[in-house]
Amino acid sequence: MADLKTKYMGLDLASPVIAASSGLTNSVDDIVEFEKNGAGAVVLKSIFEEEIRLYLERDQKAMARNEFIYPETIDFYDDFASDDALTQYLGMISEAKKKASIPVIASINCVSSEKWPSYAQYIQDAGADALELNMFIMPSDFDKTCDEREKMFFDVIEAVLKHINIPLSLKISYYSNNLGPLIQQLTHSGIDGLVLFNRFYSPDIDIDKLKTVSSNVLSQPSEITMPLRWIGIMSDRAGCDLAASTGIHDGAGAIKQFLAGAKAVQVASALYKNGKGHIRTMLREINDWMDQKGYSNLDEFRGMLSTKRTENAAAYYRMQFMKHFAGKNHAV
Ligand SMILES: Cc1cc2nc3c(=O)[nH]c(=O)nc-3n(C[C@H](O)[C@H](O)[C@H](O)COP(=O)(O)O)c2cc1C
Repeated sequence: MADLKTKYMGLDLASPVIAASSGLTNSVDDIVEFEKNGAGAVVLKSIFEEEIRLYLERDQKAMARNEFIYPETIDFYDDFASDDALTQYLGMISEAKKKASIPVIASINCVSSEKWPSYAQYIQDAGADALELNMFIMPSDFDKTCDEREKMFFDVIEAVLKHINIPLSLKISYYSNNLGPLIQQLTHSGIDGLVLFNRFYSPDIDIDKLKTVSSNVLSQPSEITMPLRWIGIMSDRAGCDLAASTGIHDGAGAIKQFLAGAKAVQVASALYKNGKGHIRTMLREINDWMDQKGYSNLDEFRGMLSTKRTENAAAYYRMQFMKHFAGKNHAV
């Protein structure tokens, strides 16, 4: 039986497969079920910066009226029954920490460093083991330059780090003019983990109803190549741990990411498709492959095929079809 333990962001994980932030990670029962199925950690469904701002503004108004508001301790979260979504979120974290022993990583979806970062401390006080920031700055904002957009990442990280000392990770998309250097700088910005990459709904058009619609809510296994490329290119250059996300649907997908240098993988779509028990299947597949290859722990092969260590680094960098597919009779 291979040892599947890994260290991610300084956290000791019993396995390298993490339940990614999604609608499947939104309750204490979900977390307990993921633990039973061998998940190394759970990233909670994200709360939104906008929600936090409203919450804090409301509390400031209440404070002006001299009402008691800010919850300070875990005991307070336990005793304070409120319908407020954010109070429930904090309550869920503290409850999960009593019922499960795997790390609970809270998640905040944010696009600015304004007015909300102090809330990160409430998440820490509720008992979260780490915080993941889910940041997506759509490059269709015509009023911002590329530099202005990317500066946001660093502003947010700096602001949040003032309020917490639990590990902090960032999940980004691959939309950047300057992705390699951006990833490198981010991994040296004080964060403990970087998740490559988030994935988004795509637009489609219903030609019968003449309507735009959202499509591709769940990923396909073929989408694994985008994070694989960037984990492979960046794992030797990163100043913090890298986790892979998008298109990891089975044990083989996870193994590829470890070979490229990932510390852990985050999985969502495959769990929607196959249920939470799919994590156990993935772990069995990883274990069987390791037994077959004679590896007893993940570090024995992690990063073995990163750009610096593979004999064929060009596979990570190659973008264009040249002679390989140029023959007239080729099927592609
Ligand atoms: C239905 C659904 C809801 C999601 N909600 C969140 C979220 O709240 N926060 C977040 O950071 N990522 C969210 N994600 C993105 C996933 O965490 C993951 O990064 C992405 O789906 C790529 O992984 P996959 O190919 O395994 O699905 C969601 C994904 C799905 C499919």
